[in-house]
Amino acid sequence: MKKTILVTGGAGFIGSHVVRRFVTNYPDYLIVNLDNLTYAGNLNNLKDVEAAPNYKFVKEDICDFKSMESLFGKYSFDGVIHLAAESHVDRSIKNPLAFIETNILGTVSLLSAAKSSWKDFDGKRFYHISTDEVYGSLGEEGFFTETTSYDPQSPYSASKASSDHFVRAYSNTYGIPVVLSNCSNNYGPFQFPEKLIPLMINNIRNNKPLPVYGKGENVRDWLYVEDHARAIDLIYHQGKVDETYNIGGFNEWKNIDIVNLLCDLLDKKLNRPPGTSSKLITYVTDRAGHDHRYAIDASKIKNELGWEPSLQFEEGLNKTIDWYLENEQWLQEVTSGDYQSYYQEHYKTEA
Ligand code: NAD
Ligand code: TYD
Repeated sequence: MKKTILVTGGAGFIGSHVVRRFVTNYPDYLIVNLDNLTYAGNLNNLKDVEAAPNYKFVKEDICDFKSMESLFGKYSFDGVIHLAAESHVDRSIKNPLAFIETNILGTVSLLSAAKSSWKDFDGKRFYHISTDEVYGSLGEEGFFTETTSYDPQSPYSASKASSDHFVRAYSNTYGIPVVLSNCSNNYGPFQFPEKLIPLMINNIRNNKPLPVYGKGENVRDWLYVEDHARAIDLIYHQGKVDETYNIGGFNEWKNIDIVNLLCDLLDKKLNRPPGTSSKLITYVTDRAGHDHRYAIDASKIKNELGWEPSLQFEEGLNKTIDWYLENEQWLQEVTSGDYQSYYQEHYKTEA
């Protein structure tokens, strides 16, 4: 094998698209997917590549430094693409300590394993996948750029900001070659239905209330997950050491407009009379400390690496809806068990 790459969190939403892309496009790389399979990790996300000769799955916790060190010893990784994290803002409000543990301690544990195992940093690369939420919340105008000051507002974004700082500190202090990217909201197949778009698709399908926080006027910048995976591939191979790249969809939407659009698209696909699903919209108590707006200026990655989003939003949403409608069993599996209790506790109603 030409290269051995560790992908962490590869059984999650974005990680599974990254693993699939690398296993398929680089048959001469060995891709080691490390994931401890939390509620958000699911090996069924990778059924189509699990038998590939250049793919290996390892069930470990990134916080376990000794195991990370022995894994680095065993595989002599050329690079790391680090996605493993607790990723949902609402859960971080309920249980911030889990986010500190995985996102901060876990990242430092991985960095330390790389530091102690990589005797020679030549050709090595530690790539940290982060979020635009580290920059805080925007008003009606302006965009986040790579030089925007960090101003995280939720326990989730504070934990990701901290992990970004540790990645840069390990580069500055120990010379580990790092690269970072901060991406806007992703959507697409295999996203756990606690996040806005898959949650709304699942509830519309089941004729359940559609819980919109506050007035539904918060704005997010949406990107199709395969476009993110393509950006990660480019940055892993061509991004400059110590640089940060912002990735976004140039695609801002108010939450309520997305929910209405999903209702219209699903009414058509499910042969329901127009206006049926939007009657399910229910305004609920706002999220504590709800960031008003995120918007990325993705000019740097466009100008330096030639990356741009490839899919229009409606096209991406149609593909996403079709995937969820065709993968009812996947949805049923991930919404059984703990999901019901999470949902009831959070929304005070059944999923
Ligand atoms: P996800 O919650 O779907 O997946 C996270 C994965 O990490 C799961 O498979 C889980 O089992 C694994 N994991 C969690 N704790 C672990 C641990 N201690 N050890 C090993 N594995 C562990 O998350 P996602 O939405 O795919 O996000 C992936 C990464 O991208 C995260 O770092 C997130 O902060 C970042 N990100 C996400 C978005 C988004 O819109 N989803 C946007 C920008 C950045
Ligand atoms: P989410 O998908 O959780 O992503 P993030 O908070 O990381 O941006 O939420 C996207 C937006 O949708 C955010 O403004 C909160 C809102 N939202 C709702 O209105 N209702 C919901 O049930 C959820 C999960 C989110």
